[in-house]
Amino acid sequence: MRAIQLTGPSLDAFASVDLPEPPPPGHGQLHIAMRAASLNFIDVAVALGQYPGVSFPLIPVADGAGEVLAVGEGVSAFNVGDRVALHPKARWAAGRPTVERSRVMRGVNLPGVLMQVATVDASAVVKAPDHLSWEETASLPIVATTAWNALEAAHIGPGSHVVVLGTGGTSLMTLQLAKARGARVIVTSSSDDKLVRAQALGADHIVNYRTHPTWDDEVQRLTDGVGADLVLETVGPQTFMRSLGAVRQGGTVFTIGFLSGTVGQIDLLPLIIKSVRVQGNNTGSAEDLADALAAIAAHRIKPVLGRTFPVRRIEDAYRSAAEGGSFGKLAITLDEIAL
Ligand SMILES: NC(=O)c1ccc[n+]([C@@H]2O[C@H](COP(=O)([O-])OP(=O)(O)OC[C@H]3O[C@@H](n4cnc5c(N)ncnc54)[C@H](OP(=O)(O)O)[C@@H]3O)[C@@H](O)[C@H]2O)c1
Repeated sequence: MRAIQLTGPSLDAFASVDLPEPPPPGHGQLHIAMRAASLNFIDVAVALGQYPGVSFPLIPVADGAGEVLAVGEGVSAFNVGDRVALHPKARWAAGRPTVERSRVMRGVNLPGVLMQVATVDASAVVKAPDHLSWEETASLPIVATTAWNALEAAHIGPGSHVVVLGTGGTSLMTLQLAKARGARVIVTSSSDDKLVRAQALGADHIVNYRTHPTWDDEVQRLTDGVGADLVLETVGPQTFMRSLGAVRQGGTVFTIGFLSGTVGQIDLLPLIIKSVRVQGNNTGSAEDLADALAAIAAHRIKPVLGRTFPVRRIEDAYRSAAEGGSFGKLAITLDEIAL
């Protein structure tokens, strides 16, 4: 079986390898013929040796999509030929986080998705919406699960105000799912071009955080001095205090990202005075992904793909992800190693 391995902590250490064919799927398992993958910031952190608990060589990449090739005993929900998304948190079918559910992740401490045939538990796989390509489906597991959980945590519905920071994959998926719920969405970006593209996706208000460094004041102005019900915090220490400035009394700062690092200083006073709920998040469960994909199917949402790379250009894909700045997700086609 063909697979791509990352042989060490480097963006240049990818190797195409031949591995033994997997045994037939066991009880409760599926074989998936992998078709596409997508990159997230965590894949870059793993490849740069910045993520804990990783040992090399490793089959990298958390997010993928493919076609059911064989069905093990005891599986009734899937048939050969079904198009599915693989959930990256392979031991988190449903329920609250536990150490084991949060810790185990494809491409981190389990084989990732850059292989011909993946053996997975049926409980960690979700049927793909019919209107999406392989690459679009593969772009979803991490960002759709996370975006869904952010909107659920803050009870976002018609008329709620949502702020997303930047135009990366998670922010744009949160924008799209929030619009489907009737919310009003404010998007920040360093680029006016990207902000125009965000408007085309439904953004109600746009703020350039370079030309408006006090973008939290803009959010207050745009919400008549109330503030946002939800701020999706993708950036970290650089933006956290402004997120507290932008959120409303009793609102939620959904804290997921560390693009500007993990360590910073917080003034607790605005958090206390405004009764802000700071909610951390570590992706979520397969059940959360299934809920998100049901909404994506019902609203015919098309996820935004920045660029798509063939798997032979895996180094270029990782370099592009490491540079950042993609409008939406980076996808990888697996045609060259697919069955
Ligand atoms: N914990 C979880 O459950 C979870 C799930 C998903 C993602 N994440 C994390 O969330 C973060 C974002 O992930 P992603 O995949 O969506 O990233 P991405 O696709 O790489 O997006 C990065 C974007 O963030 C924006 N950005 C960078 N610095 C900024 C700043 N100072 N202020 C405002 N925006 C800024 C930029 O947007 P512009 O180019 O428009 O300026 C940039 O393009 C990462 O740290 C990732 O690990 C966590």
